[in-house]
Amino acid sequence: MSHSRTAMLAALTLVAGGTGMALTAAPASAGAAAAPCTVDYQVQNQWSTGFTAAVTITNNGAAKSSWSLKWSYAGDQKVTSGWNAKITQSGTAVTANNESYNGTLATGASTGFGFQGTYSGTNAIPATFTLDGVTCNVDSGGGGDTGGGGDTGGGGDTGGGGTGSRVDNPYVGSKVYVNPEWSAHAAVEPGGSRISNQPTAVWLDRIAAINGVNGGMGLRAHLDEALKQKGSGELTIQLVIYDLPGRDCAALASNGELGPNDIDKYKTQYIDPIASILSDPKYAGLRIATIIEPDSLPNLVTNAGGTNTTTDACSTMKSNGNYEKGVSYALAKLGAISNVYNYIDAAHHGWLGWDSNLGPSVQEFHTVATTNGASVNDVAGFIVNTANYSATKEPYFKVTDSVNGQTVRQSKWVDWNQYVDEQSFAQALRDKLVASGFNSGIGMLIDTSRNGWGGSARPIGSGPLTSVDDYVNGSRIDRRIHAGNWCNQSGAGLGERPTAAPAAGIDAYVWVKPPGESDGSSSAVSNDEGKGFDRMCDPTYGGNARNGNSPTGALPGAPVAGHWFSAQFQQLMQNAYPPLS
Ligand code: GLC
Repeated sequence: MSHSRTAMLAALTLVAGGTGMALTAAPASAGAAAAPCTVDYQVQNQWSTGFTAAVTITNNGAAKSSWSLKWSYAGDQKVTSGWNAKITQSGTAVTANNESYNGTLATGASTGFGFQGTYSGTNAIPATFTLDGVTCNVDSGGGGDTGGGGDTGGGGDTGGGGTGSRVDNPYVGSKVYVNPEWSAHAAVEPGGSRISNQPTAVWLDRIAAINGVNGGMGLRAHLDEALKQKGSGELTIQLVIYDLPGRDCAALASNGELGPNDIDKYKTQYIDPIASILSDPKYAGLRIATIIEPDSLPNLVTNAGGTNTTTDACSTMKSNGNYEKGVSYALAKLGAISNVYNYIDAAHHGWLGWDSNLGPSVQEFHTVATTNGASVNDVAGFIVNTANYSATKEPYFKVTDSVNGQTVRQSKWVDWNQYVDEQSFAQALRDKLVASGFNSGIGMLIDTSRNGWGGSARPIGSGPLTSVDDYVNGSRIDRRIHAGNWCNQSGAGLGERPTAAPAAGIDAYVWVKPPGESDGSSSAVSNDEGKGFDRMCDPTYGGNARNGNSPTGALPGAPVAGHWFSAQFQQLMQNAYPPLS
């Protein structure tokens, strides 16, 4: 979406203009071209207390199998987290060493890494860099993606002009916010600039995210940046509300910071501060789409009572009522802000697509949206496939197909589900929700960030008519081992790019799960985020009742949920469908 790119460039222009700082360091003197290395250091985004930067190293000397880049800051910059390099800092001196996967650097080859940092005062670009002890040229040629000037956009935000009442579909006629932090991660990946200007959601996945984790962008920083990207048009920013007590009760990978009984903390330390920021009149001109608590209510429906998928943690959350109280509270509190659009998470067809699950889910959604102060008017719509891999459309078979008189519903893959893809599921669910009492204007979102299933394994037509299983397995673009698999799926690709109003009843295709962020670690990794080790992320595990006791299909070598997973990002680009050009 080219308008997003323009918005991004406008923001960068403002940063450069505001600080009187060039985006790249001063050119080295002529004749210095013989230096054995060139470094391009780009501040990609900057806000009052922090920044992200992308660094590209080009090796003009002998081939290397490892590398170490050093520089010193003149100011008080502190690197707080990095990606695609191991970065350490001592005083003003910074060292970036290669990761295990990008140490090789042939003569003439380039590699990139990125980081986030804090600063105060000015954020001057370091004057000198050394690669393995040798001073490099500092390139002012402009990296691949920061582009040149000529951008007049943005500027002079008035911030005003709040519409006062909601529009039917907040994605129509609106740019969608590009998260500079995600964008910076994507941009330093080889080939990543092809998608780094796509809009992705901002996950408020802990209380600290409201003010910014480790100096990262907090909610106000994102909203301020959104105003810049907005310029004089409309802009929709997507926020994921994700910190319920006892979070992720049927799994371990995204367990959170709040215990099962911490409902008061959820209200007063999480939802209330978010609501108070979102209701600042300064932000009244933004359209704010909130994705409400992925997986929570679906877990109460299918994993909390007397079935073989029940977990104790979900039963606890069902009996203490804190998922329901939390979601109702979020809907009411955020729904009271006239430019907020609440979308409740409704899992995906491979979870709720059986009538025996869908009926109770609709009831559950309606109950939660009409109790504890919430009303159906607080609900703009629902989202399906959040962070999942189910295909938007299966082009080569339909649920109504049959083979030799047998319905495809009895194939092992479909397993009597009523749906075979997300779009048909979302549209049918929408009708049921309206029938249950939700407003007829509700719209659906589909997370298409990782459900493209392109690449060499993608079928090009329907499967053989030898049996329902042969037919379905030969037809389906979703190449997972089992539709219950959800962690870092091998073979997945980027899906449809974010698009407004792509089909009847669908408000937008969106990228809510940011491509490249892990679903969970493939082995136990200690962390301070409350996240556990879920064996569904372990490629060697044989599965559980929720995936038909099948292998997990997870990629190896994955970091903790939410952390950057370069190999997955590369696979998603490789298998993108529609393909990347
Ligand atoms: C997972 C993580 C969360 C992260 C999100 C987006 O749900 O638990 O921390 O923000 O994915 O990547």
